[in-house]
Amino acid sequence: MHEPRKIIIDTDPGQDDAAAIMLAFGSSEDLEVLGITVVAGNVPLSYTSRNARMVCELCGRSDVQVYEGALGPLERPQVTAEHVHGKTGLDGPVLPEPTMPVNPQHAVDFIIATLRREPAGTVTLCTLGPLTNIALALQKAPDVMLRARELVMMGGGFFEGGNITPAAEFNIYVDPQAADLVIRSGIPLVMLPLDVTHQLLTTKARVQRIGAIGTRAASVMVEWLEFFERFDIEKYGSDGGPLHDPTVIAYLLKPELFSGRDCNVEIETVSELTMGMTVVDWWRVTNRPANVRFMRDVDADGFFDLLIDRFARL
Ligand code: RIB
Ligand code: CA
Repeated sequence: MHEPRKIIIDTDPGQDDAAAIMLAFGSSEDLEVLGITVVAGNVPLSYTSRNARMVCELCGRSDVQVYEGALGPLERPQVTAEHVHGKTGLDGPVLPEPTMPVNPQHAVDFIIATLRREPAGTVTLCTLGPLTNIALALQKAPDVMLRARELVMMGGGFFEGGNITPAAEFNIYVDPQAADLVIRSGIPLVMLPLDVTHQLLTTKARVQRIGAIGTRAASVMVEWLEFFERFDIEKYGSDGGPLHDPTVIAYLLKPELFSGRDCNVEIETVSELTMGMTVVDWWRVTNRPANVRFMRDVDADGFFDLLIDRFARL
């Protein structure tokens, strides 16, 4: 019996964040969620905090502590995505307000204290939103942050372009300065970009398989996905929308589903035209350090099989 891998999930729920958290909770033999830290992103912090606690309660995990972090980006004006996720960030089903409290410790202090307490190299940071909390922790305790085993993020895009601007993916675009601090931090980084997530469409057949699980959590997830995908179906004209954030958790559970390469990634933090762009030296045309494992391909059917198998365990 192997020890479950210790993770912290930093998130801005968001229906796809909710799917990632549910995938983690459905994989409790493999993953131990030490805590959930929330950040402003898809919607303001008050909603991401509410939403994270709603997902914990839906999954019967009100034992997991939720910590509130940054109200907004380090420098940039706040950008949110209600047009995709709805006003609350978890539009779709009508659910009761959460009753579990927020843990009073600040998210940044929780991240630092956890990395300081746990043996070096044993805690994985899983980021599903803008990287503001991680950047603040790096500014406050850079040496402690290097005790992380690795940081696996949903963010960026290169061959696929951007989704919030032609050049940039939302999580990076919201706080490019934070992403720049993280990308230069020396923490081992794995990036699950739009190049991967755009291959993972919530097709009708896949959503029906989730619905067929028959549990309350699965039926709520179906309503979340059906709300969340409507924007991308309109935008891309596809059968279903890309499911972004669960790729981070799926990568920890079954890395063999993904393929990519170690290469240099830098963040645009100056030009307004390309602000937040992840500039990926995939063809190694520079001698810049290979600071990121950049994922480019995924076994889509294998990913959804994993998702459905683990959702069914809740
Ligand atoms: O660009 C997709 C990312 O932005 C996802 O994490 C989604 O939840 C939003 O935060
Ligand atoms: Ca997210």
